[in-house]
Amino acid sequence: MKKLRTQVAIIGGGPSGLLLARMLQQDGIDSVIIERQSAAHVEGRIRAGVMEHGSVEVLERAGVGQGVAEHGLVHGGFDLASDGRLCRIPIEALTGRSVTVYGQTEVTKDLMKAHRAAGTAMFHEASDVTLHDVTTDTPYVTFRQGDADWHIEADFIAGCDGFRGPSRQAIPAAQRREFEKVYPFGWLGILADVPPCRDELIYATSERGFALASMRSETRSRYYIQCRVDEPLEDWPDDRLWDELKTRLGPDVAANITTGPALEKSIAPLRSFVCETMRHGRLFLAGDAAHIVPPTGAKGLNLAVGDVHYLGAALGAFFARNDTRGVENYQTVALRRIWKAERFSWTLTRLLHDFEDDQAFDRRMRTAELDYIFSSEAAQRSIAENYVGLPFEDVLAG
Ligand code: APR
Ligand code: PHB
Repeated sequence: MKKLRTQVAIIGGGPSGLLLARMLQQDGIDSVIIERQSAAHVEGRIRAGVMEHGSVEVLERAGVGQGVAEHGLVHGGFDLASDGRLCRIPIEALTGRSVTVYGQTEVTKDLMKAHRAAGTAMFHEASDVTLHDVTTDTPYVTFRQGDADWHIEADFIAGCDGFRGPSRQAIPAAQRREFEKVYPFGWLGILADVPPCRDELIYATSERGFALASMRSETRSRYYIQCRVDEPLEDWPDDRLWDELKTRLGPDVAANITTGPALEKSIAPLRSFVCETMRHGRLFLAGDAAHIVPPTGAKGLNLAVGDVHYLGAALGAFFARNDTRGVENYQTVALRRIWKAERFSWTLTRLLHDFEDDQAFDRRMRTAELDYIFSSEAAQRSIAENYVGLPFEDVLAG
């Protein structure tokens, strides 16, 4: 058994874990990252790509803002489309803020590069990761890597291991307060090296269901359509998918769509989930380990960045001057932001997707709401304010 001692043992080396380690490092706090997958796997995963202004600022402060500053596409608005009719939500004019389109894959690569340069202790391909004694002052993590068994003692454990990781499960079920909504459809996504059909995103609803036109760069597009979760991918050859996208986005947008072979194609289920128990003794959950949003509001990564921003500040104050206010307040302060993002993501999902149990009245409600949004600056301002991201609070103030 090999032993190691650190101040914060971070389980999960996705965006949450990597960013937290970076923030701690800047405060002179030692951490170790324990990740189940290989580094190549972590750096290759394709995920969403819209960063709130506040998230970009957090990356900058963590010293990993160069990639997003150089290659991110700053967007001052996006379009809502209903049966081919477009309405631009001018988020920058309405809020004074913009969002930046920059793939989460790139964020992860930037963080990994910074950690390699800093020589951060990272254990990849770790198996049997287990948390121990989290409600005592001497928690520890054990795992296996290759032929070696490891035992890592820490002052705190950060559970950044996503929705299916072991950290949340280390909290006894009876003490976990969880809320979940599973949607009766998924998103079929396609990534292709073709120029985007428009310079901003289009979130579209149509009689045939939802569609999203997004991008990664001026030469790479990302599109999605609502589909059944159990649909086999083989049923969606590229040509059928492009045709369906064109129909849902409407003829004006379709005229600008350049089609091309899929670099990646996959179906993701949609889920809303919150585990309100984000602290259990010396274990803290952050990011997807504590909550999931449907991708419609582009909040997944941004919420993770928010949690880590709070947790980094809380642990920073604890180690600098034994100030426990942040660790005490973390859950309450983080949850206020999380629930509002859950609300926004749920509302947009409800508004733009076709639900199989919708009755004629429900459809009229959606049409009326869209009609209201298209014609009311007040309604658009509310959407814009949430889309660019709600402000951070001071975790030490509570
Ligand atoms: N042991 C160690 N690591 C684990 C384990 C385990 N048993 N189980 C999962 N992990 C790792 C995963 O391999 C992954 O690299 O934890 C990491 C969690 O990363 P993400 O799922 O990406 O979650 P998070 O870092 O919180 O990122 C937030 O924003 O856009 C959203 O959902 C999207 O990934 C996303 C996120
Ligand atoms: C993406 O580009 O992958 C993307 C953009 C916006 C979303 C979801 C996904 O709301």
